[in-house]
Amino acid sequence: MTMPSTSPQSDHLIFFVNGKKVVERHADPEVTLLFYLRKVLCLTGTKYGCGTGGCGACTVMISKYNPVTKKIHHYSATACLVPLCSLHGAAVTTVEGIGSIKTRIHPVQERLAKCHGTQCGFCSPGMVMSIYTLLRNYPDPTTEQLMETLSGNLCRCTGYRPIVESGKTFCEESTVCQLQGTGKCCMDQEESQFYLDKKEKMCTKLYDESEFRPFDPSQEPIFPPELIRMAKDPQKKTLMFCGDRVMWLSPANMSELLELRMKYPTAPLVMGNTTVGVTIGAGCTLAEMKEILTSVVSNEPKEKTKTYRALLKHLRTLAGQQIRNMATLGGHVASKHDYSDINPILAAGKAILNLISKEGKRQILIEQLFTPSLKEELHDGEIIYSVVIPKLHRWDFITAQRQAQRLENAFAIVNAGMRVQFREGTNSIKDLKMFFGRVGPTTVSASKTCEQLIGRQWNDEMLSKACRLVLDEIHIPPTAVGGMMEYKRTLMISFIFKFYLKVQRELHKLDPKMYPEIPETSISALEEFPIKTPQGIQMFQCVDPHQSPQDPVGHPVMHQSGLKHATGEAVYNDDIPRVDEELLLAVVTSTRAHAKILSIDVSEALEIPGVVDVITAKDVPGENNHEGEIFYAENEVICVGQIVCTVAADTYAHAKQAAEKVKITYEDMEPRIITIEDAINHNSFFFKEKKIEKGNVDKVFQYVDEIIEGEVRVEGQEHFYMETQTILVHPTGEDKEMVIHTGMQHPTYVQSFIAAALDVPRSRIMCHMKRAGGAFGGKVTKPAVLGAVAAVAAHKTGHPIRFCLERGDDMLITAGRHPLLAKYKIGFMKNGLIKAVDLQYYINAGCTPDESEMVIEFIVLKSENAYDIPNFRCRGRACKTNLPSNTAFRGFGYPQGTLAVENYITAVAFHCGLPPEKVRDMNMYKTVNKTAYKEPFNPELLRKCWKECLEKSSFQSRKTVIEEFNRKNYWKKKGIAVIPMKFTIGGLVAYESQAASLVHIYQDGSVLLTHGGCELGQGLYTKMIQVASRELKIPSSYIHLSETSTTTVPNARYTAGSMATDINGRAVQNACQILLKRLEPIIRKNPKGKWEEWISQAFMESISLSATGYFKGYQTYMDWEKEEGNPYPYFVYGAACSEVEIDCLTGAHKLLRTDIFMDAAFSINPAIDMGQIEGAFIQGMGLYTIEELKYSPEGVLYSRGPEDYKIPTVSEIPEEFYVTFVRSRNPIAIYSSKGLGEAGMFMGSSVFFAITDAVTAARRERGLAEPFTLNSPATPEMIRMPCMDQFTEQIPRDDLSTFKPWSIHVS
Ligand SMILES: Cc1cc2nc3c(=O)[nH]c(=O)nc-3n(C[C@H](O)[C@H](O)[C@H](O)COP(=O)(O)OP(=O)(O)OC[C@H]3O[C@@H](n4cnc5c(N)ncnc54)[C@H](O)[C@@H]3O)c2cc1C
Ligand code: FES
Ligand code: FES
Repeated sequence: MTMPSTSPQSDHLIFFVNGKKVVERHADPEVTLLFYLRKVLCLTGTKYGCGTGGCGACTVMISKYNPVTKKIHHYSATACLVPLCSLHGAAVTTVEGIGSIKTRIHPVQERLAKCHGTQCGFCSPGMVMSIYTLLRNYPDPTTEQLMETLSGNLCRCTGYRPIVESGKTFCEESTVCQLQGTGKCCMDQEESQFYLDKKEKMCTKLYDESEFRPFDPSQEPIFPPELIRMAKDPQKKTLMFCGDRVMWLSPANMSELLELRMKYPTAPLVMGNTTVGVTIGAGCTLAEMKEILTSVVSNEPKEKTKTYRALLKHLRTLAGQQIRNMATLGGHVASKHDYSDINPILAAGKAILNLISKEGKRQILIEQLFTPSLKEELHDGEIIYSVVIPKLHRWDFITAQRQAQRLENAFAIVNAGMRVQFREGTNSIKDLKMFFGRVGPTTVSASKTCEQLIGRQWNDEMLSKACRLVLDEIHIPPTAVGGMMEYKRTLMISFIFKFYLKVQRELHKLDPKMYPEIPETSISALEEFPIKTPQGIQMFQCVDPHQSPQDPVGHPVMHQSGLKHATGEAVYNDDIPRVDEELLLAVVTSTRAHAKILSIDVSEALEIPGVVDVITAKDVPGENNHEGEIFYAENEVICVGQIVCTVAADTYAHAKQAAEKVKITYEDMEPRIITIEDAINHNSFFFKEKKIEKGNVDKVFQYVDEIIEGEVRVEGQEHFYMETQTILVHPTGEDKEMVIHTGMQHPTYVQSFIAAALDVPRSRIMCHMKRAGGAFGGKVTKPAVLGAVAAVAAHKTGHPIRFCLERGDDMLITAGRHPLLAKYKIGFMKNGLIKAVDLQYYINAGCTPDESEMVIEFIVLKSENAYDIPNFRCRGRACKTNLPSNTAFRGFGYPQGTLAVENYITAVAFHCGLPPEKVRDMNMYKTVNKTAYKEPFNPELLRKCWKECLEKSSFQSRKTVIEEFNRKNYWKKKGIAVIPMKFTIGGLVAYESQAASLVHIYQDGSVLLTHGGCELGQGLYTKMIQVASRELKIPSSYIHLSETSTTTVPNARYTAGSMATDINGRAVQNACQILLKRLEPIIRKNPKGKWEEWISQAFMESISLSATGYFKGYQTYMDWEKEEGNPYPYFVYGAACSEVEIDCLTGAHKLLRTDIFMDAAFSINPAIDMGQIEGAFIQGMGLYTIEELKYSPEGVLYSRGPEDYKIPTVSEIPEEFYVTFVRSRNPIAIYSSKGLGEAGMFMGSSVFFAITDAVTAARRERGLAEPFTLNSPATPEMIRMPCMDQFTEQIPRDDLSTFKPWSIHVS
């Protein structure tokens, strides 16, 4: 229990970390295990990703001895939610505790790295600990257990496939290269339906399993015997831990607990601290509850265990594994959260709460907590002791349903528990219970509806009445928090329908004569999407057998930091140890979108202990507004989330407390522009319009057969890099020098902004980075603004500053991908041939220019995608709004802009009654040609990717099967789509692609390599080592790449636009060639000598062993006046085919299969390139399907963490995933390679269009002839609502003009 601190008497907290005893004499109840590990024990392998239990980056294993069962219980937990004080007597194992590159790496770590399951590596320690804990409990796990174990771990880079694969190597029944559970490698199967063109020599093995060390479970560390003794100690006493503000009491037994509960009735009882028949103890975790129920279900007759099976369904998908390991049944029930998945089922199942207090025991039904007419509450001093879940009878039926934004680890949008009891042998309702979640402040009972239906027959009439009554009884106001009212209403009655069918089926089973089977077409309403273990194949070019064995180019070499990622030894910015006098920075951000700042009162903030200073615009010695980007708001604020001031204090807790005390008064200003529509109305734009045009669009519109006009909206996207923005600034104290460490994509930019803010020459600002925990465009410009903010604080206070954004602040302040609105007018012939396109794009740039001009340029230039439209006009504008400034994001506008293109192609196909792929094919570039802006190109590879994709994915035959499926299944529809891609890499101006490197050879022959590119997880450093190894003709082990810094390579351009390998590779190649040339005379004299001998000799001959390399850049340009240019050095082509299944009643979808054909030319590192393509594809799929940012009408971003912004998890990835590199040549780039960092993003749109196809099939069957536009993201809501039926017809519609919605779209 926790309560305000009153007593200074603290007990010693004793626990073990990685086998070492920790005795904490001043345990603070407010401190979490994550903080303690990272900041006190300096075990920085465990990462901070969100602080709310939603990302799994902080996963550790906790082990406890149970003196009753005499067993040791190991479970994974998110350290950010574990209160330190809860650990008395526990053993904690962190990633450092299981293996290290310094001693011995653990097989889990080794395999994750070698299977290429790490990119940026920030999620890797959490992944390792989840798999490790699984193996501690199940040395031979099943693949289902593996999938379940990974359900609480997010990865933003890899797309999960390689992570799952590394875990599968431990699974008993699975080898990694296995298809359809046959146990045989698919490549060995003669009859394999999968494609492998024997003429083109392709490889499929990205790693060598024979290298893996065997896993021996007996070698794991033992549980500390001292903790067993502590657990068995009969003299246990109540423990008390006092912090500054809060006291923690751990009662030794129940009577002490009840005593305390009476004494402190309002003190929370901390169980899992995650908020944060069968009798189950309230202290059981949800994972333990699952185990108990699984065992009961397997031992008891099926009909009696219906409630348990209903609970088990949700206990698999509710939260992630770590949360289920921590959250308790009692805590869950007592919290009465509206999102509770368990309470509606327990209430419907007539579960009983056993309550206990000092006064005695009593029982209540859980339904009494939620049914107004039976209202009961827990009394003061009372706790839930246990929960009794009755067995059901033969004529009792129960169901559990939920729909969330994604399949698992997401709060439900609506959930339900429903139970019906019939009079024995009849279908007459004796008792009925329906409970819904997320439609009110807590679980809501539809008790009046149920009462009115008692005595009725279970038939269609009853169903209609039930739907009508529930909609009347449970009113969801149009302004309700969470929005989606119409969808929620539809879900409620769709769930009733599913329940109705399910029960009808059961009745039929009980008495087939009396109760007919449900119609065959309805059966599909009942089937749920299973979570399957993904399978697939990756195909890439084999290395020429004549290539030197020392030469690593073309090999799937593991990420240079892979093992360090997996052992937690890779150092990220916040892992850098604290320096003396360091201060922590917390931000105060604007709560208004557009307002005058009337006053800033910092007096209370300055009184908080440990606070050193509050920094505002007045403290900026140089420019506060640099290139239109504002560091500290001055006089007025222009978005919610703008930094107004920062607080510097000795700890982050103090800084944050003080930040909350800063009082700012505002006066709202007009206009407040939030959406693109608002901006258009106010003529609020940045920059001039960008336009390209070819042919004569207006003239051609006069003679085409048909013209359609429409709009497409694509909402924004959050980068959700796992490492939030972190900046360390260290004033050296001399010559105004500042040393900066941050994860960034553009060190030169950071340097220039900080220099401008401090009014010092750039030479005084030294920016360093080793790696970033993901970036995706979000660390191009934003670290410069944040760096300036931190540097001003360092300048003012004279102290080193550590500035780490919390996840919520990061999401709020740094914004993301631009929301886009496309308006189109298309002129086409009846046969589908498009003659003219007039396209107008708007992007929501937010409040400052950032990179929006470049984004709109890219959108306009790439807007034709793969299509040869003879008369084409495209215009683009960047809207200036009062939202945080949007910025670069993988694909740089192409993923949004081109979605609109594919959308109008689909619309043309719809109008012509043609399959979309036919219209795509018909209008596609086919021969050597020029783009709309007159850049010549050869679409041969585009055609190759397209054709191979169609052919090798068996598109046509699968389409026929899908049509057959759709005919038979009214409530489930499948859809398939194939999408072509013509992508370009690089920037529009030549100087943006210049690059430099610096290579030193030391006297021992070791090489230190530096260049201007940043390692963001994309494997740039690994590839650069491969390049240097080939060029210098030495093994990679000789070459070290430590960091990127403005001190070694000045004026480097950004690491973005898929160009980093191309341009830095050329610079590295150049430096190495210079050095090798210098060494040539020595080598010639001693050709059989060793590298070390040549280097030593070179030194003796005073030959410089250091060289800079340089690449001038691609000679690109764009003339916007003439609307022509050669803006991109080359094209990357591809095609993707995806197949999905949707549930027309809920809007859920399942991605069944994806085939990607990517023109990879010659891959320098197929493992890394494969990872980029797969990772980008999953990120793109997230953009187009489940990632949804929610804003209030006032411009407040609601989505500020993993709990309300859903990136794909392991269960979203395709069940079958095939990626093939299509070979080509690209003489313009190093080793004939291609930049593949971004291209895969748009391939994710194949999922979007497969969903469109499925929704179209549903609508066609329902007789809805008019076209419909699916906007992005195609969330469950967006899928469900156009699948109109008797349920959508019934729901009350709100008059939009009569209320202010909770959230709005900003596109
Ligand atoms: C990331 C994340 C995702 C989640 N996703 C879901 C989800 O999808 N679906 C879902 O249903 N839930 C979800 N949850 C909620 C999770 O199930 C709850 O956290 C859990 O229900 C709370 O249990 P706890 O043991 O941690 O309670 P605590 O946080 O320890 O306590 C909660 C409250 O209950 C009181 N309490 C605790 N035990 C008792 C008792 N025995 N008697 C009386 N009062 C008691 C405490 O005083 C406190 O006020 C999620 C949680 C997190 C953190
Ligand atoms: S940091 Fe703990 S779960 Fe995200
Ligand atoms: S490797 Fe998983 S988040 Fe980067």
